[in-house]
Amino acid sequence: TTYKQPHRPQYHFSPRANWINDPNGLVYYDGEYHLFYQYNPSGIRWGHMTWGHAISRDLVHWQELPPAIPEEGETMIYSGSCVIDKTNTSGFGQDGRVPMVAIYTGARPDNQSQHLAYSLDKGRTWTKYASNPIIDLKQKDFRDPKVFWYEPSQHWVMIVLLPTDRKALFYKSPNLKVWTKTGEFTAADSPATVWECPDLVEVPVDGTIERKWVLLLSMGNNAPAGGSGMQYYVGRFNGATFINESKPGEQRYVDWGKDYYAAITFNNLPRRGNRGAISIGWMNNLQYASEIPTTPFRGTMTLPRELRLAKMPAPIARYELRQQPIQELKPLLGASFQWTGTDVAQLNQSLASNSLAGDTYWLQLELEAAKTGVGVRVKKEEAAQGKGEETVIGYDPAKQLVYVDRSRSGQVAFKKEFTGRFTAPLKPQNGRISLQIWVDRSSVEVFGNNGEITLTNQIFPKPESRGIEFFGDGLRSVLIRSVEPIWK
Ligand code: FRU
Repeated sequence: TTYKQPHRPQYHFSPRANWINDPNGLVYYDGEYHLFYQYNPSGIRWGHMTWGHAISRDLVHWQELPPAIPEEGETMIYSGSCVIDKTNTSGFGQDGRVPMVAIYTGARPDNQSQHLAYSLDKGRTWTKYASNPIIDLKQKDFRDPKVFWYEPSQHWVMIVLLPTDRKALFYKSPNLKVWTKTGEFTAADSPATVWECPDLVEVPVDGTIERKWVLLLSMGNNAPAGGSGMQYYVGRFNGATFINESKPGEQRYVDWGKDYYAAITFNNLPRRGNRGAISIGWMNNLQYASEIPTTPFRGTMTLPRELRLAKMPAPIARYELRQQPIQELKPLLGASFQWTGTDVAQLNQSLASNSLAGDTYWLQLELEAAKTGVGVRVKKEEAAQGKGEETVIGYDPAKQLVYVDRSRSGQVAFKKEFTGRFTAPLKPQNGRISLQIWVDRSSVEVFGNNGEITLTNQIFPKPESRGIEFFGDGLRSVLIRSVEPIWK
């Protein structure tokens, strides 16, 4: 019964009960992927911030473990990262046991500073470092450290924010305990007035042997769909500071939907060829996160994504982020329905007579960017004859936009900022648009043209709103596959 509620995501991580926000400390170690997260152990609203913990052997099926790092007195455990200290630079290791080290923000009402804790049993139990904090600038807002090992100069790197100054600071350390400041990054063109949860990660450039550094930033406000979201910069990293090569004034958004925040990437992933970085985000928006109508839990993670870059030829001449759901999700795909043709009425008919039901599925659409709008209505309330619930995903060829309209998606009135239609710019490739759409009980994630754009949105339909209906005359092929639940 734990994972059976009407709005319980069936193949996304959510906690058994209570509130979660940002993913923290994403790290792989010895056969396990660790997902820590901002967690309130005693309530369904934000508070008592503690690192919750879940593990997975395949990045898809998760097992929730007891909370990892609890708040202590007035000090809450805010967002941060985990590293595997293989050579025991920190000295936290004992008897040959490799320490997993968490670097997080200790948050007091009037001060935020950076702290360490370590685990010698694969993240199950944690000891706070006796000499915390490791960096204290006597600031009220100073948080969200992301730490990684920088191989070329053999030291640890931290990127951490002064959120209200929109400034990222860089530090280096030989041992995770003593840190020296090495640089700063700010960007006058960011539309946000607050930055949170930074990440700096090297990713492969498609079709080349090149790798570039991507700086990911969560924007506390002024994201394209309204409220919070994410942007990125592309450049170089020299071990001391990030050298931005993105042109000023060009906005680079990670996701165009309403619900994509605080995504960071995994540390210590096993090297698998030229595979990209892997990120997980919090599927929510600060505008209404504490209002969403789920119980007894509140908060869901997005699907893990692989990040790569594409080098766009002149005149665009820039690196663009490409995101795809990780290939590990493929085994979840089950029964399928396939169609090619031009007659959408016939498609809808054959779909209606097909037994492929269920409320969790994956869709792949090939569209010809025709003159009329084209797309699909999912989670449609069939009994209501077009007047009921539906979430509409489509392409507007005149404006060259992919959109998700959730204004009639189900419960929308719990907060006025929730409703709406959200768009992402997308140009046809050889006259075609392809959309990959992941529908879960309470979300829709859209990937356009091989991950050029993504649109992530929550929805809260009635359980009986299960219809799928296509519209418009540009549709050329459809593939639908059921997605199996990850919960036993
Ligand atoms: C982002 C954030 C972080 C902070 C954490 C506290 O959602 O505000 O900046 O570390 O949440 O829960």
